Amino acid sequence: MDYCIAVGIFTALFIFGCGQVSFGQLNGWNQAHATFYGGSDATGTMGGACGYGNLYTQGYGTNTTALSTVLFRNGSACGGCYEIKCWNETQWCNAGNPSVVVTATNFCPPNASLPSDNGGWCNVPRPHFDMAEPAFLQIAKFRAGIVPVLYRRVRCNKQGGIHFTMYGNQWFNLVLITNVGGVGDVVAASVKGSKTGWIKMKRNWGQNWECDTQLVGQSLSFQVTTSDGTAIVSYSAAPSNWKFGQTFNGNQFH
Ligand SMILES: *[C@@H]1O[C@H](CO)[C@@H](O)[C@H](O)[C@H]1NC(C)=O
Ligand SMILES: *[C@@H]1O[C@H](CO)[C@@H](O)[C@H](O)[C@H]1NC(C)=O
Ligand SMILES: *[C@@H]1O[C@H](CO)[C@@H](O)[C@H](O)[C@H]1NC(C)=O
Ligand SMILES: *[C@@H]1O[C@H](CO)[C@@H](O)[C@H](O)[C@H]1NC(C)=O
Repeated sequence: MDYCIAVGIFTALFIFGCGQVSFGQLNGWNQAHATFYGGSDATGTMGGACGYGNLYTQGYGTNTTALSTVLFRNGSACGGCYEIKCWNETQWCNAGNPSVVVTATNFCPPNASLPSDNGGWCNVPRPHFDMAEPAFLQIAKFRAGIVPVLYRRVRCNKQGGIHFTMYGNQWFNLVLITNVGGVGDVVAASVKGSKTGWIKMKRNWGQNWECDTQLVGQSLSFQVTTSDGTAIVSYSAAPSNWKFGQTFNGNQFH
C-alpha cells in the first residue's frame, strides 16, 4: 500500500517535472483573438497550409485552427495543440468560459489592405486563431464574429501511431507526417533506408518533408523530433515493397 502511494506520488512528480521541462514559459495563458472559418461542417478547413489533406481521414476532425503569421512560424507550428478559451467578453463567450483543444492545421494569411484592428486579424504581429467553426462554437457564439481568447500550448492526444505518407517519385521523396502526439509540432525529421544511413530531411511545406535519396525497394525507418526536443524513432515502419501514396504507422510520443 505504502509502496503504491509512493509510486503514485513519484509518478505525479515525474509527470509534473516533465511538463515543466517540456513547456517552460508556455505553461501560462497568453492573450490573442479568435475568429472562425470553413462552414458549419468544417469542409472549408480541408486541405490547408500544413499539407494534411483530408482532416477527417487523417484523424484531426473539426477541432482545428489556422494560425496567424507569428504563430504559424513558416509551418513549423503545424501539428501543435492549443487549449483556447474565450474571455473578457460577457456577451459573446459561452457560459462558464469552456476551453477547447485544437490542432494547428492551416495558415491564416495576412491581408495588407485591411487594418490589423479591423479585419486584418492575421496581420503581423497579431497572435490570432482562425478556428474551424465547430471548434469556435464550443467557446463562443456565432454572432460574435471575433472574440478575445486566452491560449496555451498543451500536449496533443492522438490515437495510434505517427503516420508517414509517401509522396513523390523515385528521385524525390516527400514524406507527409501526421497524427503526431506529444507536443505535436515536428521541427526535424530523418529517414533511413535499409541500405542507407540516416538522412536528414528538409521541410518542403507544412509537415511535408523531402529528400532526394533513392529509397524505392528499401524498408524505411523514420525519426521525428518535436519542438520540445524529444525524438522518436520508428524502425522499419514501411516494408521494402512500399509504394508512393501509401501511409505507414510508426511509434507515438507519450
Ligand atoms: C519564414 O521564412 C522566411 C524565409 O525563409 C524568413 O525570412 C522568415 O524570418 C521566417 N519567418 C518566421 C516567422 O519564421
Ligand atoms: C477587457 O475588455 C474591456 C472592454 O472591452 C477592455 O476595455 C479591457 O481592456 C479588456 N481587458 C484586457 C485585459 O484586455
Ligand atoms: C472537440 O473537443 C471537444 C472539447 O475538447 C470534445 O468534446 C469533442 O469531442 C471534440 N470533437 C471532435 C470532433 O473531436
Ligand atoms: C483583403 O481584403 C480585401 C478587402 O476586404 C479583399 O477584397 C481581398 O480579397 C482580401 N485579400 C485576400 C488575399 O484575402
